[in-house]
Amino acid sequence: MKIFVTRIIPSGAVATLQEAGITVDQWQEKRNIGHQELIDICKKYDGLISVGQDLIDRSFLQSCRHLKVIAQMAVGFDNIDVEEATRLGIPIGNTPGVLSKATADTAFLLMMAVSRKAMYMNHKIMRGEWGFYEPTADLGIELHGKTLGIFGLGKIGLEMARLCQGAYGMKIIYCNRNHNPEAENATGARKVNFEELLAFSDVLSVHTALTAQTKGIFNRQAFDQMKKTAIFINTARGSIHNEEDLIEAMRQGSIWGCGLDVTNPEPMQPDNPLLDMPTAVILPHIGSATQQTRAAMAAIAAENILACRKGEPLPYPVNPELYKP
Ligand code: DGY
Repeated sequence: MKIFVTRIIPSGAVATLQEAGITVDQWQEKRNIGHQELIDICKKYDGLISVGQDLIDRSFLQSCRHLKVIAQMAVGFDNIDVEEATRLGIPIGNTPGVLSKATADTAFLLMMAVSRKAMYMNHKIMRGEWGFYEPTADLGIELHGKTLGIFGLGKIGLEMARLCQGAYGMKIIYCNRNHNPEAENATGARKVNFEELLAFSDVLSVHTALTAQTKGIFNRQAFDQMKKTAIFINTARGSIHNEEDLIEAMRQGSIWGCGLDVTNPEPMQPDNPLLDMPTAVILPHIGSATQQTRAAMAAIAAENILACRKGEPLPYPVNPELYKP
């Protein structure tokens, strides 16, 4: 079996595959592979380890219908046309669970950094602007006892809720299609509708998947319904917020601050006005970027590949319906 990997991934997973007699080739260049380029490369392979930046759309899948497996090294898979893959009988895997804590840590980091204008203050030092002590300048806001609103309370949202409750005794509200009884029991989280989430959250953190329903849902109208003192955090997908509207909401003071680990587009351009705003903190999609988590994600991708080679169902399938009789 020959596998192509669209990035250099942690070596432990590569060794696991090689020890099982699988040939593993990794893309070495520091640029995304073009769509046609990826199709041409994949013609020579039996399987693919992909990341969220690879466009695995209908035309890719139709051209690469020979692929026996696509193991995405991410929990999100909005870059993949899963319906088409299922129609063509191609199993798709992802890496759920292992990145929940690291991603929640990133959301928490953004929340704290925004609340104390940490990046802006750091940039002031770099610009030589650490002046004299001013008791009323550049003040932040405190988080104790505030309300955390979670949009999409699953595994990552629950970790964020636990962190915020443990650190600041925050009250938790959330907006989901269905109740999350585990989160309700663990944190006392209360389910609310979207309008209530917007109106009552002091910090609103997005942890949902990108779908047709969630695309652009945080737009001008949504920001206008939030508290003027609220902080908006997005560590899920950049397309869930409308970035022009977010910039405008920050300029107008419709919300107090924002922390983004995901932007729209990615990468964010260096002249984006958010980068100069005191209460905005932007990170370059590093939610799961710890040594431990990336190793665990790669190990799961390898498990998915190994299962496919043995002719077994993927242990972490995105389209489990393939295995139903
Ligand atoms: C994911 O797993 O979907 C992340 O965005 C990748 O780090």
